[in-house]
Amino acid sequence: MKTIIEPFRIKMVEPIKLTSREQREQLIEEASFNPFLLRAEDVIIDLLTDSGTSAMSADAWGAMMRGDESYAGARSWYRFRDTVIDIFGFEQVIPTHQGRAAEHILFSVMVQSDSVVPNNTHFDTTRANIEYFGGRAVDLPCVESDDLESDYPFKGNMNIVALEKLIADEGAEHIPLVMVTVTNNSGGGQPVSMANIKEISRISRSAGIPFYIDACRFAENAQFIRRNEPGYEETGAAEIAKEMFAYADGCTMSAKKDSFANIGGFLCTNDAELAHKERNILIMTEGFPTYGGLAGRDLEAIAVGLREVLDEHYLDYRLLSTRYVVRHLHEAGIPVLMPAGGHAVYLDARRFLSHIEPLQYPGQALAVELYLEAGIRSVEIGTVMFGIDAHTGEERPARLDLLRLAIPRRVYTQSHMDYVLEGINLVWERRADVRGLRIVEAPKFLRHFTAKFEHV
Ligand SMILES: Cc1ncc(COP(=O)(O)O)c(C=O)c1O
Repeated sequence: MKTIIEPFRIKMVEPIKLTSREQREQLIEEASFNPFLLRAEDVIIDLLTDSGTSAMSADAWGAMMRGDESYAGARSWYRFRDTVIDIFGFEQVIPTHQGRAAEHILFSVMVQSDSVVPNNTHFDTTRANIEYFGGRAVDLPCVESDDLESDYPFKGNMNIVALEKLIADEGAEHIPLVMVTVTNNSGGGQPVSMANIKEISRISRSAGIPFYIDACRFAENAQFIRRNEPGYEETGAAEIAKEMFAYADGCTMSAKKDSFANIGGFLCTNDAELAHKERNILIMTEGFPTYGGLAGRDLEAIAVGLREVLDEHYLDYRLLSTRYVVRHLHEAGIPVLMPAGGHAVYLDARRFLSHIEPLQYPGQALAVELYLEAGIRSVEIGTVMFGIDAHTGEERPARLDLLRLAIPRRVYTQSHMDYVLEGINLVWERRADVRGLRIVEAPKFLRHFTAKFEHV
């Protein structure tokens, strides 16, 4: 069968409120042209993020009912911990309320003011947490990722030559850890190959530097390896994931992505001494080490979701449905990052709105237009998000100006995606009339969440 079907049935629904263009004009102006400041109920299709927005299964909801809410040593904690150890293979598991809390604890024990932390591309919270502790977050994307249109299958790879040079230039003693993000969210949701992970691991370990994986979308990455990396065709996603993590010394995880949970995260390591320090901080900031900021029922839901996400029919559906949207955009001549990533579609806003210069935020302008046109909410990943140099405080264009349409897991159907395609096509047809934006108010860190804009 050629038709991609959602491999699940829907037994509970949430109504979508339909708004008119006139209503949306007023609503986006009231939100200062920042989709983060809209009320969710005023959005028709919400592609702001795939984080914490998944639909949980009947099994996960059922597991929540057996959540053990004991303060210490709850049954749910052991179920969660054993699942994480089984899938990820690390010895020490530290539960947190979401991914950035795991990052904050990790960097608080590892990063100092003279630290440099490389990644294929840091996610915004990863970068912000490193910079918060005075370190320098360095992106080392592979050269293939510069060509947004090529169909190179592992554009999430790290540039190995650049990593070796960074270690030689900075000295291993200034690099407390090397990270790689799977899939590479800020770099277009592109996967990292097993060969690349192996190389990063070899280089890091030979320099005596711990290697961590930002594991948010580990299952999607594993399925990309299965489908596109020679030698893995017959290997299941769970086994591939195990191999990926076997090359690493630890990981940070947001369970709000590849485990279908609405909240949760964890930090893993094989270093018992480090874990001891991390747990002391955990107790101060998140909670006791057997719940870490989560309810017992959340731990249960994550334990179920982590197994469900490795189902090959789900993963094939996930990758194919994202590819469906990307293929239709590409065929219509709309600039879209190729090939399709796992969790999101990335429009190349700099080329889509080529008359708008980066410092007038083409990605943000496109997000506003998509909302106006069809009530679709998306997020800029470009100069608004990454345009401030943390050390000089100066603004300069980001490497790319993308608009990310992140697809919540198991939430929308193919007809929702057809509606999204129609909305994007309509904006594409009238793109010459779209105006750029300027910032009227913004905080110093993570400004994209709360910045206010007006049209230039
Ligand atoms: C790659 C990556 N790392 C870290 C995070 C942070 O996770 P959380 O939102 O759970 O704090 C995210 C969230 O979107 C992410 O995509």
